[in-house]
Amino acid sequence: MPAMNEKIAVVGAGLIGRAWAIVFARAGCSVAIYDALPEALANCRKLLHENISDLAQQGLISETPEVVLARISTAGSLAEALQGAALVQENVKETVEVKRAIFAEMDKLAGPDTILTSSTSWIPTSDFSAELPGRHRMLVAHPVNPPYLVPLVELAPAPWTAPEVVERARDIYARAGQSPVLLKKEITGFLLNRIQGAVLNEALNLYENGYASVADLDTVLKDGLGLRWSFMGPFETIDLNAPDGVLDYAKRYGHTYRDVAKTQLPNAWQAETLQKIENERREVLSAGQLEARARWRDNRLMALVGHKRKQPV
Ligand SMILES: NC(=O)c1ccc[n+]([C@@H]2O[C@H](COP(=O)([O-])OP(=O)(O)OC[C@H]3O[C@@H](n4cnc5c(N)ncnc54)[C@H](O)[C@@H]3O)[C@@H](O)[C@H]2O)c1
Repeated sequence: MPAMNEKIAVVGAGLIGRAWAIVFARAGCSVAIYDALPEALANCRKLLHENISDLAQQGLISETPEVVLARISTAGSLAEALQGAALVQENVKETVEVKRAIFAEMDKLAGPDTILTSSTSWIPTSDFSAELPGRHRMLVAHPVNPPYLVPLVELAPAPWTAPEVVERARDIYARAGQSPVLLKKEITGFLLNRIQGAVLNEALNLYENGYASVADLDTVLKDGLGLRWSFMGPFETIDLNAPDGVLDYAKRYGHTYRDVAKTQLPNAWQAETLQKIENERREVLSAGQLEARARWRDNRLMALVGHKRKQPV
């Protein structure tokens, strides 16, 4: 039986909001989900049921889909959703203005101990919380899509977020089965999107300058680096790739990385390059097949998560 019993409010019932609802309900929380669009809420239960059933089929939930789904209720208003919540996970549109407005409203409606978090992918906490009386209880908690399969959550507080709030949020995400990491300072893109951006930037440059095809560059990750990356990061990798650890690796190969870095320039994301990449992708996967392929990806991810759960750390 899952261990959590806090109430969690999820604001925004789109892709990420629904996924968070599953994370918390799976862990035992009662979840109230709210959306400004009534049709988003109306569709919510069917979509949630589909996703939770997929998890059950892969053995990734310990209860029946119905039991997990029964913990999620739709709220008729923001106030109703926030009532009694330990933590609010906001997942509305990605603009600073919208985030400022919703955090101002949530700050008025939430109880004094409620933690207010945002799923924003790019907007620092300071940008939407600076003017608000309850800014000490606000922070970014950036997930990876879908958070019920990919556990990383990046906690990125503002300088004025109370350390006690960050600690309480970290504890809630960890108990919900997520893998929280903490940004010690604010930076646009947080950690994951900055690293993903560096990889994309280099892949775009290599493609644009004619070094390899789209398919081969994707293969470098899926049959090369990515295999290792699902269980260790770049620092542990270099620690193990020379007999005496990190310093030994740096002594052997550091100069080559320094030389390569001098040739790694920013990429402008030119329309012409992106159109060519689009064309190469559409040759192997038609637009009509995108949805089915995304479902295939999620099923592969579920199998991988299942495998990782059975391994020692
Ligand atoms: N999609 C991703 O891969 C991903 C990954 C990580 C983080 N995020 C972040 O999560 C957030 C949500 O993204 P998404 O992909 O779920 O978007 P989405 O468009 O699927 O969902 C947004 C939902 O918010 C609702 N909404 C808009 N304004 C509202 C308001 N004022 N009050 C209540 N509901 C409101 C909309 O009706 C919609 O249902 C964004 O900040 C995004 O950057 C997205």
